[in-house]
Amino acid sequence: MIYFDNAATTLHKPEGVIEAVVRAMKTSGNAARGVHGASLGAAGTVYETRKKLAELFHCPRPDHVAFTANATGALNIAIYGLLAPGDHAVTTALEHNSVLRPLYDLEERGLRLDMVPADRLGNVRYEDFERLLRPDTKAVVCTHASNLTGNVLDLRRIGEMAHRHGAYLIVDASQTAGCLPIHMEEMGIDVLCFTGHKGLLGPQGTGGLCIRPGVELRPFQRGGSGVHSYDRRQPSAYPTRLEAGTLNSHGLAGLSAALDYIAREGVGALHAAEDALARRFYGEVSRIEGVTVYGDHSQAQRAPIVSLNIRDYDSAVVADVLYTDYEIATRAGAHCAPRMHEALGTTEQGAVRFSFSPFNTLEEVRIAVEAIRDLSKE
Ligand code: ALA
Repeated sequence: MIYFDNAATTLHKPEGVIEAVVRAMKTSGNAARGVHGASLGAAGTVYETRKKLAELFHCPRPDHVAFTANATGALNIAIYGLLAPGDHAVTTALEHNSVLRPLYDLEERGLRLDMVPADRLGNVRYEDFERLLRPDTKAVVCTHASNLTGNVLDLRRIGEMAHRHGAYLIVDASQTAGCLPIHMEEMGIDVLCFTGHKGLLGPQGTGGLCIRPGVELRPFQRGGSGVHSYDRRQPSAYPTRLEAGTLNSHGLAGLSAALDYIAREGVGALHAAEDALARRFYGEVSRIEGVTVYGDHSQAQRAPIVSLNIRDYDSAVVADVLYTDYEIATRAGAHCAPRMHEALGTTEQGAVRFSFSPFNTLEEVRIAVEAIRDLSKE
């Protein structure tokens, strides 16, 4: 199989990640729940993982990295932890349902929500943020890159505008963590939400949020923390404030190994490899008659994603044929990004998304281009 569904989850993981998970499953106790070696070992792994993530994203404090099962969990904590009915928030048409649905839920309960629109290329106009920000805006919640088009948002610019208006910036880095450099301090990110199983090359079931010191998030869930057991309230110190219940120390051991791999190879080098493949693929398929490619491929920095349609063919059928006849794995349909599809005019047809990882090859790209060429003739 040729796997081009890396924006959903990366399939090829560094060997060290798999070994670390297996080792942890044989040795890890419950982190922060005992004073024996198995528990202390797990706690050590969890802390090391916090430290590596804080370094990667330039989060000033490792204890301000809290773990969740995925980016959706992190975004729910950030959005419900910061926003309340009566507040005003700004978001964008590029967002995934993991941002939109919590915001819509709060909107039903009295949050005032404004959305920065996107044009047919999937781009925002930065003036629209300025236009929608108000003195009472509590937060801008936005993605770093669209999971449908791969278009990247200029977070530094958005962060500067948000802070000038006294608002926080919550970022969904699902498609960019491990792919593009992220510097929380320089970009003005107050809460960074990430998942471990995409560009970070770790196991599914890992993710989290990095919180700028001084940003106070209400706990999203409450429960055992291993500390202050007689208190009726969830402990107030990060990360325990946001982590109730047993942590996924097996998965985090894998994520820790993945972060070592990324540190060794470098985010820049890994992204250069996947970016070159995505750009080559775009360069070829965009010239094929009957193919429509979405997104702004003139952007200097992009997530490694190319979404397209062939003529008026149903994207689900095309993805199915790509898999059954060519053994090429893609993702079709709506990609949980309804507003982005509305902006692109693809709500009926959906789109076929090809997403690349550093482990794909030029030969795989060549085969996929030929497959698209074949299908566009039929
Ligand atoms: N959010 C993931 C995607 O875009 C699953 O495919």
